[in-house]
Amino acid sequence: MTANDIITIPNPLLRERSKRVGHIDAEVQELAAGMISATLDWEAGREHEFGAALAAVQIAKPHRVVVIRNDFDHKEDQSFSVFINPEIVKAEGEPAEELEGCLSVKDIYGSVARYPKVKIKALNLDGRPVRVTATGFLARVFQHEIDHTNGIVFVDRIEDPHKLFRLESNGKFTPVNPDKAPAQS
Ligand code: NI
Repeated sequence: MTANDIITIPNPLLRERSKRVGHIDAEVQELAAGMISATLDWEAGREHEFGAALAAVQIAKPHRVVVIRNDFDHKEDQSFSVFINPEIVKAEGEPAEELEGCLSVKDIYGSVARYPKVKIKALNLDGRPVRVTATGFLARVFQHEIDHTNGIVFVDRIEDPHKLFRLESNGKFTPVNPDKAPAQS
């Protein structure tokens, strides 16, 4: 799988709920491997961006599988963890806004409110139950990816158009909806 396999809005599949995985077999393992290679290929083609995670629906496979980078701070660490049927069992703290992006929303970033701490339950690729207590950016990533499994894209959570920004080719953000210039007198 490559960056070309990643679907983008307005593809209607991105607004569909993904199906639970009933049985973890070679097909699911192949799916996860394909998601990881597509994410790394996407990142290789984009100078200013980091491929933090992907949900299976983003390669047009609507199954509840997400892959998340193990190290968000070092691009050279290209390892991922796989979470199958991930669920938030508890969200804690006051939601806070930070800029986030998505491989399925080209060049657009937006300020989205997310809980600072979430407890996750999922299965790993061996079919064993895993529990994660995530804080900070990892908590944000889990909420973003679990949204994908429920057919929600981050822009769906942004009502104020002033909270949307475009990533320019120089790596800087500019407002998508700049306020009109004041009227000339
Ligand atoms: Ni996304």
